[in-house]
Amino acid sequence: MKDLLDYTSNKNHDEKRQGEALNVILQSSDIKNNKHFYIESYGCQMNFSDSEIVASILSNQGYGITSDIFKADLVLLNTCSIREKAEQTVRTRLRSINEIKQQRPGMLIGVLGCMAERLKSKFLEEEKLVDIVVGPDAYRSLPELLEDAQDGQKGVNVLLSREETYADISPVRLDKNGIIAFISIMRGCDNMCSFCVVPFTRGRERSRDPKSILAEAKDLFEKGYKEVTLLGQNVDSYKWKGEEKHQEKEAEVLLNFAQLLESIAKINPLLRVRFSTSHPKDITDEVLHTIAKYENICNNIHLPVQSGNSACLERMNRNYDSAWYKERIDAIKSIIPDCGISSDIITGFCGETEEEHQDTLSMMKYVQYDYSYMFYYSERPGTLAARKYQDDVPEDEKKRRLTQVVDLQYQLSLQSNLRDIGKTFKVLIEKVSKKDTNEWAGRNSQNKTIIFPKENYKIGQYVNVLVETANKAMLKGVVVSLADDNL
Ligand code: SAH
Ligand code: SF4
Ligand code: F3S
Repeated sequence: MKDLLDYTSNKNHDEKRQGEALNVILQSSDIKNNKHFYIESYGCQMNFSDSEIVASILSNQGYGITSDIFKADLVLLNTCSIREKAEQTVRTRLRSINEIKQQRPGMLIGVLGCMAERLKSKFLEEEKLVDIVVGPDAYRSLPELLEDAQDGQKGVNVLLSREETYADISPVRLDKNGIIAFISIMRGCDNMCSFCVVPFTRGRERSRDPKSILAEAKDLFEKGYKEVTLLGQNVDSYKWKGEEKHQEKEAEVLLNFAQLLESIAKINPLLRVRFSTSHPKDITDEVLHTIAKYENICNNIHLPVQSGNSACLERMNRNYDSAWYKERIDAIKSIIPDCGISSDIITGFCGETEEEHQDTLSMMKYVQYDYSYMFYYSERPGTLAARKYQDDVPEDEKKRRLTQVVDLQYQLSLQSNLRDIGKTFKVLIEKVSKKDTNEWAGRNSQNKTIIFPKENYKIGQYVNVLVETANKAMLKGVVVSLADDNL
């Protein structure tokens, strides 16, 4: 018999995504050692995806998963270092978990992910009640570290690897709907954007064997999943050179991102494919033509600009200027005319002048982003910017510029959504709408959320929805027909 455990994670997902309840189905017979773990994930989707690898490693050790922290023998926090605030959130959470530990002396606490990697053994000194600290490339050593921790020996493994992709580990899906899944296609990042901590916390870029990616996507489709999102810090730089040669710089690329995307799209027209994140310096026309060619590759590109000013982009070490970025946007718009385009934007980076800030606002108007994730600059220790530039824009000014960027984005999002009224979109039904249990929520190809009455439709079906109203966050409509794909 299967136990349905309600696995509720207080995930914060940094500023990006807010907590959602997650369910996971585990066979009760799998739980051999009568121990349970509880896991919370913070930060980007990559961390959420890694938590599914960790869940797989632990369930192979006989651990069951629990949503109730008070019943957990092991509490894990998969952490993020991207901005100072992300780290503060984790520290606050650790304090409250430590209070729980006072009442449950046998309980072990582990810190995983980017903060573990950044702070290493300092974590054990600073946060006395943490038992293990494990970096993103060291999850295979969790069983050993846990064994030692049970004997009272605290452990740290933050070794970064040039090879680890966890390709052979089949993730335990922690999402509840069984319709949408994330697949890591690569790890690490070789770009050295001067503001960014990721190259330090995630190590060198490496691509995962395409055979294992394809097998994972096929397996998900056979299990009833309808959408996969391919994940990497810079998916456009995915390259497979064969198992032996993947580290050799000069070795021939056997499969690039466009080709990988195509092979996933070919699994079945009913399986939608998304990907994130694209890098403006690397996104090729080949990728754009591949998106245009396959109906099931979603017309949505997340192409973070960071700043609209070339001098600022240079200090950010992004390796493109504003003219290059605009040219890439023009290419997207001509090759994929109805493509959704989104961005990440940082305000108040080192040395940013008012004029440079105005260039960011102009760029936003030029592109007409459908949505953006917007942040004010937060200096990260050890990064290029921290070593080279002064964090000289006062916090108030960073925030004032951020407010302007956010206000403009809200206007652009609203205009973009209003333009969709009267159009019909194919939508994959994902879940019950948060606001009204009589309505479904799903997304169109462009990644916009659409809400509509449930009628007799079911989760996992594709429906054609006519948009009737819109606000800055979503579209609302009615189903006009079942999409042919369901037949
Ligand atoms: N690999 C992705 C982004 C990963 S981090 C890319 O290259 O686009 C997600 C976003 O966080 C970044 O795009 C950037 O906008 C923001 N970010 C990263 N470091 C930051 C910092 N130090 N301060 C503020 N925002 C930051
Ligand atoms: Fe960070 Fe730049 Fe790599 Fe993105 S591409 S993860 S912003 S270093
Ligand atoms: Fe955060 Fe690490 Fe992702 S720093 S954004 S969890 S790669």
